[in-house]
Amino acid sequence: MAFSSSFIIGVVFLLFPLTHGVINSIFQFGDSLSDTGNLIASGLGMQFDAGKLPYGETFFHEATGRFSNGRLVIDFLASGYGLPFLEPYLNVGANFTQGVNFAVAGATALDEDFFTKRGISFTTFKPPISKQLQWFNTYLDSTCRKTQEGCKKRIEESLFVFGEYGGNDYFTSINNGKPLEEVYSYVPSVVEAVIGGVREIIKMGAKQILVPGPYPFGCLPAQLTNSAGSDPASYDNLGCLIDYNNLANAHYNLLNDDISSLNYEFLAEGVKVVLGDYRTAFLTVLRNATGFGFDTANLLKACCGTGGEYNYDSNRLCGSDGVTACAHPEQALHWDGVHLTDATYGLVALYVLANTHWDTNS
Ligand SMILES: *[C@@H]1O[C@H](CO)[C@@H](O)[C@H](O)[C@H]1NC(C)=O
Ligand SMILES: *[C@@H]1O[C@H](CO)[C@@H](O)[C@H](O)[C@H]1NC(C)=O
Repeated sequence: MAFSSSFIIGVVFLLFPLTHGVINSIFQFGDSLSDTGNLIASGLGMQFDAGKLPYGETFFHEATGRFSNGRLVIDFLASGYGLPFLEPYLNVGANFTQGVNFAVAGATALDEDFFTKRGISFTTFKPPISKQLQWFNTYLDSTCRKTQEGCKKRIEESLFVFGEYGGNDYFTSINNGKPLEEVYSYVPSVVEAVIGGVREIIKMGAKQILVPGPYPFGCLPAQLTNSAGSDPASYDNLGCLIDYNNLANAHYNLLNDDISSLNYEFLAEGVKVVLGDYRTAFLTVLRNATGFGFDTANLLKACCGTGGEYNYDSNRLCGSDGVTACAHPEQALHWDGVHLTDATYGLVALYVLANTHWDTNS
């Protein structure tokens, strides 16, 4: 790459007003797109083993529990604000002075009963929004609530990153054999769960909230492999699956409308909620892959994986024995077929920062 994404991010932070107030700490909620170690600390396990190399090989040079070869979007954001990387909540004894990460890989927006009622099962159900909010509450009880006025200022001077959520709600349903049309009908419930969570943190005093949405599902090597052999008319000009990208679009449309309503409702309280459009960020990188120095011959292939058109095999995933990473992960968009590389996450963070407007009413 001509410029490293860390460098570009530094420049962008100088140019754009990032939030409408001071940021002394960050609280992150979400799933594997933002987990910095909770899943591996929980011992719950998952099909991708982010507790082993080559996970982490690029930046940390060891597996940290991040589902990437290096940093995640939240790591780039934290660095941009001059804050340390967020410690996972489940790391007992970690230093949480400048933020906590409650995200857990595999987490859904919805509670388990939504799925149980529809005959959808999980190997192990991971702590969803409701549980992550309980952790946040417990955290406040054990820290700033012990002092008078202690939490109010701390929370006001914090950035809340609420999401991404939804990927696991939709994909577990699809993998349980639910037709895509039915999964589309879950979008309002999933978005309602996200918005319900945002309301909870607003009630606890949050003023600056970034709400990222999912990546375009139809561009992920895992989905492209699962839908292999589809009608050529199912693919767009980037080689992604139109119907699966439209699922993400449906999620974004509703999320965007609901965020506008929240801003209107809480305007007088100085609350600002902004959408993090990871979908458009990713598509912009994919469309401009040459300019960013990516290997354009392998744009839709997993870097870490094996086999098939997309270098992805659900029986031999990244993190399993004998499955290796590509030689140049800095030139790859996709890491393990579901998650992205350090290089891509850096560019997504950059896009989100440059296109997030905290100062306007949306
Ligand atoms: C925790 O981190 C803060 C800065 O983020 C630092 O000032 C403080 O000394 C650290 N506390 C401990 C116990 O290391
Ligand atoms: C990326 O591609 C889009 C569409 O092809 C274009 O409009 C945009 O200017 C490009 N952005 C960058 C940063 O190159």
